[in-house]
Amino acid sequence: MYQANEARYDSMVYNRVGKSGLKIPALSLGLWHNFGDTDLIENQRAILHRAFDLGITHFDLANNYGPEAGSAEKNFGRIFKEDFKSYRDELIISSKAGYHMWSGPYGEWGSRKYIISSADQSLKRTGLDYFDIFYSHRPDPETPFEETALALDQLVKSGKALYIGISNYSAEQTREIGKIFKELKTPFIIHQPRYNMMDRWIEEGLTDELLEQGKSAIVFSPLAQGLLTNRYLHGIPEDSRARRSDSPFLTEDRVEETLAKVKKLNDVAEKRGQTLAEMALAWNLQNPAVASVLIGASRVSQLEDNVKALNNLDFSKEELTTIDNVLK
Ligand SMILES: NC(=O)c1ccc[n+]([C@@H]2O[C@H](COP(=O)([O-])OP(=O)(O)OC[C@H]3O[C@@H](n4cnc5c(N)ncnc54)[C@H](OP(=O)(O)O)[C@@H]3O)[C@@H](O)[C@H]2O)c1
Repeated sequence: MYQANEARYDSMVYNRVGKSGLKIPALSLGLWHNFGDTDLIENQRAILHRAFDLGITHFDLANNYGPEAGSAEKNFGRIFKEDFKSYRDELIISSKAGYHMWSGPYGEWGSRKYIISSADQSLKRTGLDYFDIFYSHRPDPETPFEETALALDQLVKSGKALYIGISNYSAEQTREIGKIFKELKTPFIIHQPRYNMMDRWIEEGLTDELLEQGKSAIVFSPLAQGLLTNRYLHGIPEDSRARRSDSPFLTEDRVEETLAKVKKLNDVAEKRGQTLAEMALAWNLQNPAVASVLIGASRVSQLEDNVKALNNLDFSKEELTTIDNVLK
């Protein structure tokens, strides 16, 4: 039977989420990849055990994670039941609804019909009684934000979620829905946008908007899906995400396109005495709105590398300028 490491809280950093009462670990684990039915369950179990042993108390899911869609929630649910049940109150588990999940007009976006049914399905697949955070996964251009916000608020009122988040909303959309949540007194606390050295869009408005509203960001793909690591420095490994046919968002072309910059960034990381992954995560955590970097991992050793980012979070002005120049 799994027994969590007694020293699990000794070295992780926990950051407050905006002005809320909740703290989350500086590194959180996402189950978008590597937790589907095509992945080995024992590897999934090993990653979750090691993560928790390292103080990573937050696991992030969504209805559509797999493949196939739904299988990451189902596999997580199985491991949770077998190994983590007694640790429920030490965990922050999130899920989301927004992307395509089932056929017909009610299987995606932001209607009340979809959000409530999807959350019920996610609770059933994971076997949980409630989610700590439930997200609107993407803004719906056709449904009024008020409807989406009221549906999320109802999840809280009915005990199915403790806190609410939004993901992939622009600064403007965050302002708009933030006002509605405020009127409703919904515990909306967090935004989940993509952010990494190669995709800095949140610096143009969203960071300020979140700080102004007293919210935090938990940023996804902080390693640009593996590009900002040593994974592709010497070619494209057979078992890497860029090679996997079930992972269409990181292409081999993208690896080739970015390689020259990645090598230069790797030199900067070496001078800091860090791996590129460690430096990339530390760099993300410098943004004042970022409470946590939401990493993925295909093996335990990656988690062990990534938490070492916490050993050197500071950058000199010169290092930041060198990084900016490489990224230009
Ligand atoms: N809200 C949204 O719309 C949205 C979208 C995307 C993701 N997310 C969330 O964010 C989470 C993380 O996204 P992501 O998986 O793209 O994050 P990421 O951390 O940028 O990429 C993870 C991948 O990078 C590689 N990697 C990680 N650490 C490494 C290390 N130390 N050395 C070498 N390679 C390393 C592994 O690739 P290999 O598999 O090649 O080993 C791993 O699978 C997801 O699981 C999900 O929870 C949310």
